[in-house]
Amino acid sequence: MRVSVFGLGYVGAVTAGCLSSFGHSVIGVDPAEAKVALINEGKPPVIEKGLGEKISAAVSNGQLRATRDARDAVLGTDLSLICVGTPSKRNGDLDTAALRFVCAEIGSALVEKDSYHSVIIRSTVLPGTIRSVIIPELEKASGKKAGVDFGVGSNPEFLREGTALEDFFAPPKTVIGVEDDRTASALEALYGPIEAPIIRTSIEVAEMIKYSDNVWHAVKVAFANEIGVFCKSLSIDSHEVMDVFCRDTKLNLSSYYLKPGFSFGGSCLPKDVRALVHKAKSLDLDLPLLGAVLPSNERQTSRGFEMIVQLEKRPVSILGMSFKAGTDDLRESPILEIVERLIGKGYDIRIFDRNISLSKLVGANKDYLLRMIPHVSSLLVETLDEALLHGGIIVVGNADPEFRTIGDRLRPGQFVVDLVRIKDHSRLVGNYNGISW
Ligand SMILES: NC(=O)c1ccc[n+]([C@@H]2O[C@H](COP(=O)([O-])OP(=O)(O)OC[C@H]3O[C@@H](n4cnc5c(N)ncnc54)[C@H](O)[C@@H]3O)[C@@H](O)[C@H]2O)c1
Repeated sequence: MRVSVFGLGYVGAVTAGCLSSFGHSVIGVDPAEAKVALINEGKPPVIEKGLGEKISAAVSNGQLRATRDARDAVLGTDLSLICVGTPSKRNGDLDTAALRFVCAEIGSALVEKDSYHSVIIRSTVLPGTIRSVIIPELEKASGKKAGVDFGVGSNPEFLREGTALEDFFAPPKTVIGVEDDRTASALEALYGPIEAPIIRTSIEVAEMIKYSDNVWHAVKVAFANEIGVFCKSLSIDSHEVMDVFCRDTKLNLSSYYLKPGFSFGGSCLPKDVRALVHKAKSLDLDLPLLGAVLPSNERQTSRGFEMIVQLEKRPVSILGMSFKAGTDDLRESPILEIVERLIGKGYDIRIFDRNISLSKLVGANKDYLLRMIPHVSSLLVETLDEALLHGGIIVVGNADPEFRTIGDRLRPGQFVVDLVRIKDHSRLVGNYNGISW
């Protein structure tokens, strides 16, 4: 394939060098004269293990050259990968100036092109940037229509500096956010030799994946560091702790707990986070990430409550009272917190939870429930049908499989507030709101 790579920094230089090693014909573009000259001399413009060899081989066999001339690059290729910098502005916002400049250049060149050209954003951009900045800029400069006259896509880069070539050839995934099949096929051919799953999705999901990945990586580092600081103050070997932690691939390093949904609750997580944060304070440790966990969780509970109140509809039925399906443990169940607040606002409520029967609850569990909602027995109903009959708003509070079928059983005018993402929610458009989707 004939590919142009805009921006010859870390991402662009590695992309250009590695793609040419697949046999693609690559033109690199950068306004920096020095970078262009280095590439054309077969030298890497950035330090990265193995890159020099790739660039030198590609330049000497004619697979790679560099230029400052965007028009030359667009007219001589079928696909452009944009890898320019997107640094932070002083206020933290993303600076898209270089991106916009490149799009104007590529757009002007597209005016002269009859064949289909795809423009792919490899730079990290906030969700919405391609649709609201890149496409309008390209269309303005070219006078052509995205998706019809030329293709546009998001293809975020996942390499890490220092291991950039290894990461390029063996990425965890190749994400292509595209809407036109021609661009999708071109990208699949471009990365054909790479054995990583190709995930085709929307432009916005592709843009967002890069942010969720990087923010997650940042959270991991901050988490490990704060656990380390805590361990050090108690003379516990933090590395041994985290080694054991990382060996748990069932709950710790796994997809478990990583789906947007309702607040956590139950007899362990809130209590244990609270105790650790309290202990850290007593040791004069400043652990802002761990300290933010319970406030973040409480904020999610308040979000659920506000969603119900903002509907200005009554009465309310709650499906599921325990913090997760399949248990009768009500301790620190966030849904109980919502029920308590709704009662305070005078809501007429019914609650259905197949696992909760007041006569069978005992000990701390029962005490907790009666402390939170003393007259709870008058709110509990025996069947899902009774609950569905009562509410103008139906709140799905846990993921009991029976609740997944409620789409078929709703009356006109009933509204679903979903805190757990029921399976058939896409059918309920118009009378449905999910807490984080
Ligand atoms: N560095 C990484 O490890 C990494 C990893 C994944 C994603 N990213 C993302 O990739 C993008 C590029 O990052 P980088 O580290 O390679 O940046 P960089 O600053 O090293 O390189 C950017 C290059 O773009 C060039 N440029 C600026 N204006 C241009 C124009 N009009 N035409 C052509 N080139 C132009 C600059 O001269 C520079 O060489 C950023 O969005 C970054 O967030 C970086």
